[in-house]
Amino acid sequence: MNTAPPIIEISAGKKVFGNFTALSDINLSIAEGEILTLLGPSGCGKTTLMRLIAGFEALSSGTLRIAGADVASMPPEARPVNMVFQRYALFPHLDVFENVAFGLRVRGLPKDEIKDRVQQILRIVQMESFASRYIDQISGGQSQRVALARALVNRPKVLLLDEPLAALDLKIRQHMLGEMKRIHAETGATFVYVTHDQDEAMILSDRVVLMEKGRVVQVDRPRDMYAKPKSLFAAKFLGETNLFDARITQANGASATAVTASGIQFHADGFPDASAHENVVISIRPEALSFRVEDSLQRAEGTVEDIAFIGSRSFYTLRLDDQSRVRVQVQNDARTSLPSLNARTCVCWDTANVVMLPAG
Ligand SMILES: Nc1ncnc2c1ncn2[C@@H]1O[C@H](COP(=O)(O)OP(=O)(O)O)[C@@H](O)[C@H]1O
Ligand SMILES: [Mg+2]
Repeated sequence: MNTAPPIIEISAGKKVFGNFTALSDINLSIAEGEILTLLGPSGCGKTTLMRLIAGFEALSSGTLRIAGADVASMPPEARPVNMVFQRYALFPHLDVFENVAFGLRVRGLPKDEIKDRVQQILRIVQMESFASRYIDQISGGQSQRVALARALVNRPKVLLLDEPLAALDLKIRQHMLGEMKRIHAETGATFVYVTHDQDEAMILSDRVVLMEKGRVVQVDRPRDMYAKPKSLFAAKFLGETNLFDARITQANGASATAVTASGIQFHADGFPDASAHENVVISIRPEALSFRVEDSLQRAEGTVEDIAFIGSRSFYTLRLDDQSRVRVQVQNDARTSLPSLNARTCVCWDTANVVMLPAG
């Protein structure tokens, strides 16, 4: 994946609307064939970035290359790119087949070729047997497949998907995510996918582009971004975490020690510029905390305040002695003995799971 040439390259990209800067300092390289998601809160600029790639907007400054060519003066229809919108506008007066065939007919392709291509794509999205249904005779999930087919039938090098599942129920959404991966593998196109849902981003992506206020704040594989967020924003946005305000008391190369006001000590590795910060925030994921006491681990003491059982896992809320609370995730595998409600207990963690972040 990493050896593929970039299909999209944005350098020093900036977009302003009037006196509002919607995007700034965008440097992004998208590899051919990858699934990349743009993730971030509403208003951070995800749709604007997609519209720039599609050609519905132009950069205010900076450059955008697609398949090696500067596309500044290339209209949307000339770009090897197709966009699927959040509200996929299908034609209600046409059946499924004709909805998908529409673009090919406009381009004047021969009838036989249109038939072959539409049938092939309907097979990929598993809508072959619905070809003669009208749009109001199919479900939301099926409409989404038709919208995908309508974009894919043009064989774009890049498919832009702007929150394509947002209108669907949770169950169908989860199913469509799996379908999206399969369709991606079958077509070999590059998918740029917009979501504000972190689970969707993690399930689907080769890489996640995390955005905040018009800027790209981190680009990483999902598991790397989860394990090694580079900012407090990233730690909070992707997954649940426990945060502690602390002060650096010792920094030695890449390893550092920080202490909270109440005296809980955290050792962390891999934070090379620790000495540059006096105040930090410590992040530890709930699953990185455990009730197994081992000498090699760091620890804190507290009281079990709540236990939320959710089948294979439970979430414990522990009130530490300094009155702060932590969430501990445990596997209910019957092998570990777990504390009961109101019990006093010790919670432990490994240095490797401590993330030290510059205070916000
Ligand atoms: N055509 C426009 N004119 C003025 N402001 C716009 C325009 N399009 C988007 N914006 C603003 O740019 C910001 C980013 O919008 P958008 O890209 O739609 O965010 P997202 O898709 O991440 O929710 C928002 O503050 C939005 O109001
Ligand atoms: Mg949007």
